[in-house]
Amino acid sequence: MTAARPAPPAFEAVDLVRSYPLDGGVRVDALRGVTLCIDQGEFVAIVGPSGSGKSTLMHLLGCLDRPTSGVLRVGGVDVSTLDDTRLAELRNRAIGFVFQSFHLLARTSALDNVALPLVYRGVPRPERRARARAALEAVGLGHRLGHRPSQMSGGEQQRVAIARALVGDPEVLLADEPTGNLDSRNGEEVMGLLERLNVDGGVAVVLVTHDQGVAARARRQIHVRDGLVEFDTAAARTARRNMRSEWNERNEQNERHRGNQRDGDPR
Ligand SMILES: Nc1ncnc2c1ncn2[C@@H]1O[C@H](COP(=O)(O)OP(=O)(O)OP(=O)(O)O)[C@@H](O)[C@H]1O
Ligand SMILES: [Mg+2]
Repeated sequence: MTAARPAPPAFEAVDLVRSYPLDGGVRVDALRGVTLCIDQGEFVAIVGPSGSGKSTLMHLLGCLDRPTSGVLRVGGVDVSTLDDTRLAELRNRAIGFVFQSFHLLARTSALDNVALPLVYRGVPRPERRARARAALEAVGLGHRLGHRPSQMSGGEQQRVAIARALVGDPEVLLADEPTGNLDSRNGEEVMGLLERLNVDGGVAVVLVTHDQGVAARARRQIHVRDGLVEFDTAAARTARRNMRSEWNERNEQNERHRGNQRDGDPR
């Protein structure tokens, strides 16, 4: 019998760079060398000032864009080995994306908005509708199936966007400012929903936020500044753990040393 191999991390980024060439030979370096690892099932908040590269990073993680250089592995797969069709397949299968603005089709019902990603997967219409209904029920919108975005509140629209990200049963949910356009009550509902999906559904959640309260609820925070990871609470935790075990080891060594001295003591 072979031992089960541990699941690959959801994301591994090594020295990710994303530059945008502008007219006149000018270049914007939105990401300047980001290295990080996010495991399956984590709940991570990405924070940082406006223009620091958060959305750029989310677009790369979400396979909506490709790095200029560096390595990005999604579920253990190096994205540079995939052509655009395969990259889209990986995105459709593994990742749900909630955009900074909701990106819903304005003249389309909630049900059809949510069912849309399944059209690209070739899922038959009756199954599409059944799964879209189940996803909307899961976000508490079973009573708004036929409503168009303009007939819903901001919080409801955001929940439709989350249902659309979830309908394909992704391993990871990426959400760019999921509470940014919401008042505190609706923001609270959306956060509660993301936490339940993470804890009960095992979906890894990576969200961008400017809200300190939202960031504080994530188990891990990654601070981005000027296109670089400035601080990662997971790295700080690992460093503290290593320091503690080094300290314990040294203490044990000292104890052993003292014990040996006592044993060798003739009195
Ligand atoms: N398509 C693009 N072309 C040129 N520059 C871009 C493009 N997209 C982003 N940038 C630049 O890259 C930098 C990072 O942008 P990004 O959208 O990732 O920031 P952000 O941290 O998400 O900011 P915010 O909090 O305001 O959403 C910014 O300086 C931005 O102007
Ligand atoms: Mg942004």
